[in-house]
Amino acid sequence: MTPADLKKALDLLAHDGVVGMPTETVYGLAARIDRPEGLRRIFTTKERPFFDPLIVHVANVSQARALAKEWPKAAEILTRAFWPGPLTLILNKADSVNPLITSGLETVGIRQPDHPIALELIRQASVPLAAPSANRFGHTSPTTASHVQEEFRGQVHVIDGGPCQVGIESTVLRVREERGTTVLTLLRKGAITLEHIRKLLTSYNITLRFEEPTDRKQAPGQLKHHYMPDIPLIFVEDFKGDNDGVTAEANRRLHELPDDIEGVKIRKPTRPLAKAAFLNFQKDPIMAARELYSQLRDLSATGADHIIYRHDPVLCQGEAWEGLLDRLHKASSLRL
Ligand code: TXA
Ligand code: MG
Repeated sequence: MTPADLKKALDLLAHDGVVGMPTETVYGLAARIDRPEGLRRIFTTKERPFFDPLIVHVANVSQARALAKEWPKAAEILTRAFWPGPLTLILNKADSVNPLITSGLETVGIRQPDHPIALELIRQASVPLAAPSANRFGHTSPTTASHVQEEFRGQVHVIDGGPCQVGIESTVLRVREERGTTVLTLLRKGAITLEHIRKLLTSYNITLRFEEPTDRKQAPGQLKHHYMPDIPLIFVEDFKGDNDGVTAEANRRLHELPDDIEGVKIRKPTRPLAKAAFLNFQKDPIMAARELYSQLRDLSATGADHIIYRHDPVLCQGEAWEGLLDRLHKASSLRL
């Protein structure tokens, strides 16, 4: 990043603009939280529905505390251990937080990203930045600056911070206190797992209860489909046939799907599928997650008309794979 890049980004942000910001997870589309027009522009640029709230990115814990109504002991412990890093905490919001950010909810998502450019940008702006992933709604998230350029056809200023090291979005965790018990709800899986969180908090003698997300209103990000590449992705788990069999089955089944589910456009072929590309992973879940979105984009650009992923339950065993598998399930048009 050149000083001119940073200055341009700060100028844009100050004038209700949005900026592509590198983080360690995925690139974000950032606006200042004190600029309602900038916040609105995030939604219109992404074609994102207003019911899906934004994560606020802070440069330090004191900025985070100012956004939350209460700061539970668990939040203090978790942020000390995992920030800066890929963990978003959902806390009761301070009155000052604009409902545009929270979609009218009483809670706000906050994280300190682990990327020098993001931290520098927030520090220089001297106000936190709201940022969802910098992709069109429902589409594959961006992990390089050029992915963001492609998403918005060069219409968004992006600061190039290199390829994202984590590669999938942050873990999203609701934290609240109820009569001396800390209640945790995992709203999105990510590199920091529930086991990491549980181990840490119990080592501080925090009494924990885990809750499943039930109320869709409180967990608006729980869409069935998301992260979809440009061509249909077929997730093969139980299907017994060979690859041609998968393609034939996909041809039978894909056209039965609705055009969109919960507002997310489902990838469906206009002609019978004929040429498959294949998604494979490295053995290490950290490396696999880092490359996932780039691979989905690259495979979509090979001239193939669908992507086949053959799930290997032996390779993908354990909690470290769950964040990645969750993305793949949601990115799939079909599971066989
Ligand atoms: O790693 C990340 O978290 C990236 C980078 C840019 O920081 N950001 C990101 O933002 O993934 P986005 O908007 O694509 O996903 C944010 C998720 C959504 O599922 C949203 O519904 C959920 O967090 N979320 C945000 N605020 C919430 C709240 N108050 N209550 C429940 N869920 C919330
Ligand atoms: Mg997103």
